[in-house]
Amino acid sequence: MTAPTARPRHRGTGHGGVFLAFEGGEGCGKSTQVPLLAGWLRGRGHRVRTTFEPGDGVLGQAIRAIVLDPANTELSDRAEALLYAADRAQHVTTTIAPALAAGQIVITDRYVDSSLAYQSAGRGLPFAEIAHISAWATEGLVPDLTVVFDVPVEIALARVRGRAAVDRLEAESQAFHERVRQCFRSLAAADPTRYLVLDATASRGSLAAQIAGAVEALLGTEQVDSGVSP
Ligand code: TYD
Repeated sequence: MTAPTARPRHRGTGHGGVFLAFEGGEGCGKSTQVPLLAGWLRGRGHRVRTTFEPGDGVLGQAIRAIVLDPANTELSDRAEALLYAADRAQHVTTTIAPALAAGQIVITDRYVDSSLAYQSAGRGLPFAEIAHISAWATEGLVPDLTVVFDVPVEIALARVRGRAAVDRLEAESQAFHERVRQCFRSLAAADPTRYLVLDATASRGSLAAQIAGAVEALLGTEQVDSGVSP
């Protein structure tokens, strides 16, 4: 693990707060860790907003229903990419940016890297184009720290396919999910100070401790408004 170091925050927006993104393939366990980290941070006096993509808010829910419904077999790859980008634009404008501006710590379950991994590496759309529409949708808002939950695809898919309903993306081939996994790993490798890659086969407690350690190191370099008067 590489400890995050001091860096410009929220490149492109420059407002307060701290922005954390959890990323990874299907069944990687990231969604379990979001409330654990939020609880740990709140216990230390921080104000925290947890959120997710796709599907935050009423409009997000409508987009989520379209992109995840396995019945939507006719949805084109480009339309899919734009729907995720539209969801993200709405999410940043209505939830993430206001919370950051209010000095909160925002933890999002998935963000731009999911579009790079699924729509570019997975679907085969050009990486630079997905990066461009993502940057446009978010007005360049980049997380301070992205945690990648890395897990072998066969283990992850066995977890997911044991569940009752499989969504449109989960139903993709193992090769698709291998490309998604490799994309998350290479995004992290290209910017090691901004990423924490975790072996997501580790225990829940071990993962929580590693994330808390990285976030603590990050907060040591940041001035966060705890919401508690001195
Ligand atoms: P979801 O039910 O939220 O589950 P999880 O995050 O636990 O996998 O599923 C979201 C699905 O949408 C998931 O298969 C990844 C996919 N996705 C994309 O393809 N592109 C994106 O930009 C985002 C945010 C998600």
